[in-house]
Amino acid sequence: MNKPACNPRLAVYPGTFDPITNGHSDLVARAAPLFDRVMVAVADSSSKGPGFSIGERIALARLALADLPNVEVRGFDCLLAEFVEEVGAGVIIRGLRAVSDFEYEFQLASMNRHLIPQAETLFLTPAEQYSFISSSLVREIGRLGGNISDFVHPAVQQAMRQRWHKGRTSSNKQPETEGDYHA
Ligand code: COA
Repeated sequence: MNKPACNPRLAVYPGTFDPITNGHSDLVARAAPLFDRVMVAVADSSSKGPGFSIGERIALARLALADLPNVEVRGFDCLLAEFVEEVGAGVIIRGLRAVSDFEYEFQLASMNRHLIPQAETLFLTPAEQYSFISSSLVREIGRLGGNISDFVHPAVQQAMRQRWHKGRTSSNKQPETEGDYHA
């Protein structure tokens, strides 16, 4: 099957989103008006030992981004470059919260340029109040019963509460759907 041509009006925003935070959502909201379509690509990242399954992460991202009509959430478990090529996106979006993000992001962007030269990486910065949020901090605060309402969508907060405070077992499943999981 022929791969679609690279479309500069279609952007992919990849990440592990474990879970999606208001910082991620802020970035997607900034990207959405710049493109015809933004595809939030949830990486399997099983080697990172994520706290939420890929199906849960996709479902939570869909709930958090439901207000943005030109945004779609999909999962992937291959190379990002392969995924971007397959969907025909011309742009990869990444967020820069602080100078400390730069080194890793520069490496990632350079490697992706090598793997898929037809796609450009575009960096956006989140609003100031989100510059210190990270998914692992949110998970830790949620796990210890702290207030995460300023950092995540209510659906994420509920999922965290169910996971860590109802019986305190990770077998308490929350979001329902697996979503379309790109293989
Ligand atoms: N607001 C809040 N937090 C943000 C943020 C923002 N705007 N942007 C990034 N973060 C945080 C994340 O929460 C995460 O925090 P954590 O480490 O505490 O969980 C951290 O910054 C980085 O996470 P994320 O943006 O999800 O990136 P990642 O490093 O997990 O994902 C992939 C990187 C998925 C894009 C990369 O691993 C990938 O492409 N994987 C596919 C396989 C592949 O192609 N590998 C080769 C790459 S060249």
